[in-house]
Amino acid sequence: MSATLQAPDPGEIQLSAAEFADLAARVRRVSGIALGEGKRDLVHGRLRRRLRALRLPSFAAYIAVLDGPEGAEEEVRMINAITTNLTGFFREPHHFAHLAQQLLPALPRQGRRLRIWSAGCSSGEEPYSIAMTLCQAMPDLAQWDARILATDIDTDMVALGTAGRYAAERAASIPPALRQAHVRALDAETVEMAPSLKALVRFLPLNLLGAWPMRGRFDAVFCRNVVIYFDKPTQARLFDRFADILVPGGHLYVGHSETLHRVSDRFQHLGRTVHRLVR
Ligand SMILES: C[S@@+](CC[C@H](N)C(=O)[O-])C[C@H]1O[C@@H](n2cnc3c(N)ncnc32)[C@H](O)[C@@H]1O
Repeated sequence: MSATLQAPDPGEIQLSAAEFADLAARVRRVSGIALGEGKRDLVHGRLRRRLRALRLPSFAAYIAVLDGPEGAEEEVRMINAITTNLTGFFREPHHFAHLAQQLLPALPRQGRRLRIWSAGCSSGEEPYSIAMTLCQAMPDLAQWDARILATDIDTDMVALGTAGRYAAERAASIPPALRQAHVRALDAETVEMAPSLKALVRFLPLNLLGAWPMRGRFDAVFCRNVVIYFDKPTQARLFDRFADILVPGGHLYVGHSETLHRVSDRFQHLGRTVHRLVR
């Protein structure tokens, strides 16, 4: 009988409370993602495919891999498996309306420099939505030094964003005029972002808890539906770092269920989860 047939079905492998606690502590230390006891089934489900890929008989064996010579590599795969990457083009569309109608028209024209950071960009729909908004709202964009930085801890997502190819149905939430201008059909099922749009966005793997290699400040940071997975002290440290990397009066957009209330006093809430740096 082959090894494949003898290997236990990872669906039947139990994740003990101690193993869950060990894995949750590792995930939290590396990524900031806080996994309460209620997430045991989620962790079990998401790491099953790692056990299957490595043909491991137990979570104890998986933890031994994490502690072994291949541990650093496997840690990246573990984080990729654990992250929740739900996203979409023009998700929470009021933020793109605010960007187009409030932030961009108020930019100082001197220097014509514009930097926007999509922090926790997942597979790229958010930074490409920002790029389309810039193209539409700034007729003289070609005369600007405009760049969008798109980063995520999940290296698989960064690769998807860089490729800029999506299932055609995902593009349905792009307003038709923008879709026509910036999206090409590759075949009946797949679309690709136009090269001119890709040229505006630079994708990089980056852990928000680690060092930030960027030099220069940002006019706006989109960090939406990311800190919801972090505890409050981690959120507070992150918002403080965003404040330090924004230009005076720069903007921070967070997700609909995220708040800076009692977490950071460095921003003024302008409504609908749009914040302006005040100190
Ligand atoms: C739910 S998605 C949100 C995507 C997009 N911002 C949006 O709102 O549509 C959250 C993303 O945050 C990323 N993330 C989680 N922890 C992170 C960390 N410590 N550093 C960087 N990215 C992280 C995940 O990999 C995931 O792609």
